[in-house]
Amino acid sequence: MNWWQDLKTKIKFQEPMQGHTTFKIGGPAEYYAEPKDTRQLKLLLKSANRYNIPILVIGAGSNILVNDNGLKGIVLRLNSPAFKKVSLGHNRLSVASGVSLSRLLKIARQQGLAGLEFLAGIPGTVGGALAMNAGIPKKNIGDLVEAASVMDYRGKIRTFPKEKIKFGYRTSNLSKYIILNARLKLIKEDKREIKNRIKEYLGYRRKTQGKSRASAGCVFKNYKGLSAGKIIDLCGLKGKRVRGASISGRHANFILNLGHAQARDVLRLMALVKKEVKKKFNITLEPEIKIW
Ligand code: EPU
Repeated sequence: MNWWQDLKTKIKFQEPMQGHTTFKIGGPAEYYAEPKDTRQLKLLLKSANRYNIPILVIGAGSNILVNDNGLKGIVLRLNSPAFKKVSLGHNRLSVASGVSLSRLLKIARQQGLAGLEFLAGIPGTVGGALAMNAGIPKKNIGDLVEAASVMDYRGKIRTFPKEKIKFGYRTSNLSKYIILNARLKLIKEDKREIKNRIKEYLGYRRKTQGKSRASAGCVFKNYKGLSAGKIIDLCGLKGKRVRGASISGRHANFILNLGHAQARDVLRLMALVKKEVKKKFNITLEPEIKIW
């Protein structure tokens, strides 16, 4: 018997991850599934558990580098309408994890709810943003979370109040689970003010980061409040190339896929960056992207 036999969810086999990551890099996932709702998700988790098959969850695929040889196990994406619901409360939005940050921002703006503008331009989903506490220096999505519900890997739904959720710099204890939903506390404000602030954040991002090539966002975490981009820039590494991958000439913490990059090219560039930064500043940079 196969682990997927009794499931309603359609399973894809040897699914190329290139098409599921913003880096446009990555070999095939052994199995790939987009369950339709929490019931299907639960059945899938139970079966995977029984057969001891590892599970990896992706959001928009914006913060990951997948190995050229691909992945063992199941890649899960909560991409169905049931995982994209948003509902409005008093100065609050309850938002499912599959919602894209850009759609969340649009809804918040239309409702005159402020607080999320700093997320403008981040190509992720709510689930991904919560798992890694996405943000910019001094502002993180975790600051706005009042409660979150998750499914554990046995299929049990749990709800955590704010006090039980720990957010750190690009980390959160929610990442141990499959995130389903979060309630965000926002502030009522004039819609035009919100729109202008979103525009400012987008403008700054475009100016400092550009938007021409596939990438995974910032590759390394900042170091004790210092911009990793600035540190890498000071090592003279902008434009440095390994085959199909290049350090951006605009923001040195971005590695760009010039069109035919492989994961191994990116990894070689990352190793070079780490080595040069260690040599020049005695700083050990840590990756922000997940390497699968
Ligand atoms: N700088 C340089 N050279 C560079 C890059 C930056 O000199 O190549 C300088 C800038 O001129 C500026 C300072 O460094 O004076 C800070 O740069 P920036 O405002 O771009 O901020 P950052 O700390 O480098 C962080 C986040 C970005 C986020 C920006 C937006 C991290 C690792 N990075 O970058 O997030 O977009 O702030 O304010 O926290 C991401 O998480 O994927 C990401 C890209």
